Amino acid sequence: MAVCDYQIGLEGIPAAQSKISHVDGQEGILEYRGVSIQALAQSSSFLETAYLLIWGDFPQEAELEDFKHDITYHRRVKYRIRDMMKCFPESGHPMDALQASAAALGLFYSRRALDDPAYIRAAVVRLLAKIPTMVAAFQHIRKGNDPIQPCDDLDYAANFLYMLNEQTPDPLLAHIFDICLILHAEHTMNASTFSARVTSSTLTDPYAIVASAVGTLAGPLHGGANEEVISMLEEIGSVENVQPYVDSLLARKAKIMGFGHRVYKVKDPRATILQKLAEQLFDKLGGDKYYDIAVEMERVVADRLGHRGIYPNVDFYSGLVYRRMGIPTDLFTPIFAIARVAGWLAHWKEQLEANRIYRPSQIYIGDHNRPYIPIEER
Ligand code: CMC
Repeated sequence: MAVCDYQIGLEGIPAAQSKISHVDGQEGILEYRGVSIQALAQSSSFLETAYLLIWGDFPQEAELEDFKHDITYHRRVKYRIRDMMKCFPESGHPMDALQASAAALGLFYSRRALDDPAYIRAAVVRLLAKIPTMVAAFQHIRKGNDPIQPCDDLDYAANFLYMLNEQTPDPLLAHIFDICLILHAEHTMNASTFSARVTSSTLTDPYAIVASAVGTLAGPLHGGANEEVISMLEEIGSVENVQPYVDSLLARKAKIMGFGHRVYKVKDPRATILQKLAEQLFDKLGGDKYYDIAVEMERVVADRLGHRGIYPNVDFYSGLVYRRMGIPTDLFTPIFAIARVAGWLAHWKEQLEANRIYRPSQIYIGDHNRPYIPIEER
């Protein structure tokens, strides 16, 4: 095998063969299992999309009904997990709470044969069912309140919004939220998916896999960017301030959050769909000055950096949608995680089908033959 040149950040180095999703960064194409993201956003639901990602095919009607039924049945989390969450500091970030709670699930659901399809299905159902409940639970617990129990009459997206707000959501809001989950469900070999695959390759349990991926997603260069976009729009404060703000960031060589992508060199197709959803939402609920700031920002950044292929990514408009829905900013990344669990589990399953533990090499650039220096002589 040829030894590849070292690429910082592994840029362009294939880390797996995968049939799960495909991105064409020049054309702005994203497909899950060969189906365009536009078609899924238009016609599918998050749970149907999750099924497609994980099992590779669209479910038959009865299979989808069973899947939804089982997920509804498993939404509740054990009181010991809720009690554990009550011990978390209320100032802690919800992503850290989610990472710890996802790992804790592994204490309750024992490790079994990873070649047993029934075990795989049960773990998929549990994780998809319980992660939203844990995100919503921490939101209430950190305010000193008891979590809201899931409502069996509501579908996946509507139930999450219900658990968050203790109110059945408007159907349009629930529908938009469901599409947001579809858009965030999977995205080839990004940092958190790579984490998920590396962890999967050790044959550990799926709760540890999701916990490691959540930890990776949390960083501001990955899922955490959606929070930073909102802080940035708030700091800018008005359409007139956009241009000087962008120029001052560029003069300092600082990154503009919500822009740029390792793969896309055009506008991220998910950002285009999210922008339309934001407009639908503002039509329903009334405008938002931050949307006007965002649109101006897209124009100014395209003018300054478009020639370098830096355009809005998925995180640019998602925060505006969630903010208008009244969701606290620090829940944006946990919501990204709720969706991305589908992709991580699809990669877990695919990794198990042809597993070899990840063991890359390194290029050692340190010293050799250094003498040991006694502490008093240093
Ligand atoms: N603002 C200003 N300059 C940028 C930006 C940006 N957002 N993104 C890239 N550049 C410049 C960068 O300064 C560098 O310039 P130079 O060659 O002069 O040093 C060049 O473009 C290449 O940047 P890079 O960081 O080496 O490129 P990358 O492929 O590693 O970057 C990225 C991908 C997403 C980390 C980066 O674009 C970035 O930091 N964006 C802001 C954070 C963000 O929005 N993250 C969400 C990513 S999408 C969802 C997700 O993955 O979770």
